[in-house]
Amino acid sequence: MTQQDCGTLDGRTPGDSEISAALDELAVSTDTNLIEVLQEVQDRFGYLPAPALQEISRRTRIPLIRVYGVVSFYTRFYTEPRGRHTVCCCRGTACYVRGGKEVAQTVQDVLGVKDGQTTGDMMFSFETAACLGACALAPVMVIDGEYRGKTTPDSAEEELKKIMAAESGVKEVK
Ligand code: FES
Repeated sequence: MTQQDCGTLDGRTPGDSEISAALDELAVSTDTNLIEVLQEVQDRFGYLPAPALQEISRRTRIPLIRVYGVVSFYTRFYTEPRGRHTVCCCRGTACYVRGGKEVAQTVQDVLGVKDGQTTGDMMFSFETAACLGACALAPVMVIDGEYRGKTTPDSAEEELKKIMAAESGVKEVK
């Protein structure tokens, strides 16, 4: 499942009935694998809303503090709404020395957000990672799971503007 079709709610918090229906469909019970259900719920809502975590805790009988412990342990889980596109810049050493810092700064300037933030229009979430495992391609930027190697501030800005243009084109069609 890609970031774009992950069922994000554009910042809207799902209602109790939506959460309940999703957990019914996933047959969440005491036999449920916690990590799997967290991933399924995040795929549906784009993040893990607090009421969903409470309901998962109730249905699985796993203490809420343990549910939150698992959520905070795995960086792939989010407890805040995410943008439709995720941009991740590497801040590892190989990328840093090849200009990764400047690429990340450009992304922040273009989007107007800092590490870990989402744009007000819910179009982009920006984050950094210690190493994206492709050091030979440094500096690396990942957009919606797709790697871009040997990026420059200019190429990063161009990529973001392409997405913005595509998004505005979608809006005009509606
Ligand atoms: S340091 Fe950037 S991909 Fe490894």
